[in-house]
Amino acid sequence: MGKKIFSGVQPTGNLHLGNYLGAIKNFVALNNDKENQCVFCVVDLHAITVKQDPRELRNNIRKIVAIFVASGIDPKKSIIFKQSTVPAHAEFAWILSCIARMGWLNRMTQFKEKAGKDKEKASVGLYSYPILMAADILLYEASHVPVGEDQKQHLELCRDIAQKFNNDFEVENFLKNPEPLILKEFSRIMSLKDGTKKMSKSEPSDLSRINLTDDKDSIINKIKKAKTDSLPLPSNSRDLEQRPEAKNLLGIYSSLNNSTLDKTIQTFEGKNFSEFKEKLTQVLVEKIDPISKEIKKLMNEKDFLDKIIEEGHEKADNIASKKVKKIHEIIGF
Ligand code: AMP
Ligand code: TRP
Repeated sequence: MGKKIFSGVQPTGNLHLGNYLGAIKNFVALNNDKENQCVFCVVDLHAITVKQDPRELRNNIRKIVAIFVASGIDPKKSIIFKQSTVPAHAEFAWILSCIARMGWLNRMTQFKEKAGKDKEKASVGLYSYPILMAADILLYEASHVPVGEDQKQHLELCRDIAQKFNNDFEVENFLKNPEPLILKEFSRIMSLKDGTKKMSKSEPSDLSRINLTDDKDSIINKIKKAKTDSLPLPSNSRDLEQRPEAKNLLGIYSSLNNSTLDKTIQTFEGKNFSEFKEKLTQVLVEKIDPISKEIKKLMNEKDFLDKIIEEGHEKADNIASKKVKKIHEIIGF
């Protein structure tokens, strides 16, 4: 039987290789399986949990749609839509915020990371962010949620919230328990400048990441400047434990080639970084440059992108508003 897939991506800044290998590449594979029903959401309500410039936000929303399509998600097969166009998300998030407990949210590590030292100054939305994420997933009765490793805790919270709702209202299995779909091997792509830090949109140095909109020359330059160590490449994965940069680069190569880390290690055993980097650059340019060109082309076709958002809205709203109607009945509204 096919899976019911739901995932979301925030329209904040440029997407990078971490987003692609950790999430979007998986979306494309799920989209390509005929049995699956996929819903991919541009989560603009999540984006405003930190301050956004309205003009940039509008542009970034279209950019995520362009990235989805350029990466290979077919809007005829999968639903692509914008979260704020379906009012059920915000409404159900409120309802679920009356189900979720403070103690549960207080454990969320992403809030602690994002809020930083001055928690008092973080928005209330940033704190309740995982509840909105739970609402997204549960409205569409998703069976599987493809995300990167960093979202695992939010998925667990979503399951706890669903269970409490079902228990409180004695509606067994009304909210469906979603399974996370996290790639085993390459679910955390690290910074090119520091193999112990996650590749991230918010890192100030652009040299730390490959953006999906980078052209060939920037890819070449960034890999040339990527941090390495002075040893030749090892013959087994145990020897990578203390070598985070080598491990990350070999992982990126493996994932782009749909191969395993062990196979890549065999190929490059004993070689030095300059030879490996040449091959890595080659495969990066081969995979990322066509996507980058397509994104740029699509960004000039605003009407086409807006039409995808409009058509996605109708389909998504249809599913979500039916679920909300049942929720109202259950609650006693
Ligand atoms: P975000 O840009 O935070 O909305 O993330 C979109 C998706 O990309 C989520 O599923 C994240 O888990 C995933 N992701 C973000 N950064 C990385 C990374 N460095 N490695 C792997 N996956 C990532
Ligand atoms: N929180 C996710 C992230 O930062 C984005 C997201 C919002 C999401 N709603 C979702 C992911 C629902 C999966 C399912 O990456």
